[in-house]
Amino acid sequence: MPRTTPLHLDGDTFRALGHELVERLAEHFDRLPDRAVTAGEGPGQIRAALGADAPLPETGTDPATILRQATDLLVEHSLFNGHPKFLGYITGSPAPLGVLADFLASAMNPNLGAWVLSPMASEIEAQAVRWMADLIGMPGGTGGLLVSGGNMANTVGFWAARAAVGERWAMRARGLGGAAPRLRVYASAETHTWVQKAADLAGLGTDAVRWIETDERLRMRVGALGEALRSDRAAGDEPMMVVGTAGSVSTGAVDPLGAIARLCRDEEVWFHVDGAYGGFAAASPDAPDELRQLALADSVAVDPHKWLYAPLEAGCALVRDPARLRAAFAYHPPYYHFGTEATNFVDIGPQNSRGFRALKVWMQLRQAGRAGYARMISDDIALARRLDEAVEASVDLRVGPGGLSISTFRYVPPELADGEGDDAVEEQLTALNREIQSRMERGGDAFVSNAVVGGRYYLRACVVNIHTSADDIDAIPSIARTLGREIWAERSG
Ligand SMILES: Cc1ncc(COP(=O)(O)O)c(C=O)c1O
Repeated sequence: MPRTTPLHLDGDTFRALGHELVERLAEHFDRLPDRAVTAGEGPGQIRAALGADAPLPETGTDPATILRQATDLLVEHSLFNGHPKFLGYITGSPAPLGVLADFLASAMNPNLGAWVLSPMASEIEAQAVRWMADLIGMPGGTGGLLVSGGNMANTVGFWAARAAVGERWAMRARGLGGAAPRLRVYASAETHTWVQKAADLAGLGTDAVRWIETDERLRMRVGALGEALRSDRAAGDEPMMVVGTAGSVSTGAVDPLGAIARLCRDEEVWFHVDGAYGGFAAASPDAPDELRQLALADSVAVDPHKWLYAPLEAGCALVRDPARLRAAFAYHPPYYHFGTEATNFVDIGPQNSRGFRALKVWMQLRQAGRAGYARMISDDIALARRLDEAVEASVDLRVGPGGLSISTFRYVPPELADGEGDDAVEEQLTALNREIQSRMERGGDAFVSNAVVGGRYYLRACVVNIHTSADDIDAIPSIARTLGREIWAERSG
């Protein structure tokens, strides 16, 4: 007698519910361009729609009802980063094939901690990692693994560097105390905040991060980096790693990666590149040449849920010498009976049980191919430059610094145009543009985020979206200007 549990779903019901869900989602994707990016509801409205105060149910509910309610809740009350006018932060629009891949992956439910628990899935992950390394020009033999996103991919590089430098002081066993010198990490002032979290969580403390000044294009000054390395060494500290950024979060700035790589080689310091945003642009002929120098790094973080348009979550840590990952993460407890003829991902990363994030990436890489990705990324870059031009041609809007697929701009009413740079005027402009951003967020016509550069507050559009068209881009300046005029009129009486 087969066992029947409260989670039982017979084959016919599973089939019927699955078909119904796919129908609803196909309809949702079709309707999305004509809907608002978000309904702009506050926490109170969302909690009321959910029934947030309801207690844990004592008994079960019919699965068809639950699935319909969950779909309704999410389709009616979400923010849609797959909307063509979603241009905020850096979140890729999910490719439909990736959505199906996640469904397939969870149905198979392989545990990619160990090869024996996920034979085909582990090999698919290994192949996806090789393909991503190849896409960005890393040498053959590069190793790595999928993680949850950019923060974790960078943190894996960080831990690999720490283990490498710490070998001399047996740091994996003894930690940071004892005879070990103080470890230092070097990153430009534009580096994403992951580096603080990593330094904090790894026990170095955030003071271990040396923030290196940037030039007028917001790129790390390599001269200043060299000075910092040498003066720390002279003081008895140990440089652990240098972080170069291939596409900064605020403006898409690319550090002089070639020069940093040479300095790191001369100084014998681990060179890590944060390519979470821009790394995959190495595949596009329209990215700056400098970006392709990321292939010289010891470790690189890339983020398929950004510019490979994979559904969340998918980050990827790549390490030139895969033995470095094993040296940072492997332990061999007696209760694991895992073979050694293939990679057990538990040995080369921080997670134990691991899901099949790689499937969506692997399927999407096959669907689009290298050429398809190069074209999509180039098109996104071209759309950002188109937005710069549209902004430049608009009265009351000023374009700001932007590279790769980021465009920044701000609303400047004619009455304040002569005072830009003046403290009191800048304060007014910041308040005005913040409010434009808030109203746009709630209104749902489009979604942008912000960048603060040299004390100036800019609205910021980042195109990592396979649905965004030239028409969507052309609509942005007028959406921003209309809100700007409305707010300025309210404020100036
Ligand atoms: C340059 C850079 N690094 C790291 C991250 C963190 O990535 P995630 O949000 O996937 O953890 C981001 C996110 O935008 C980023 O732009």
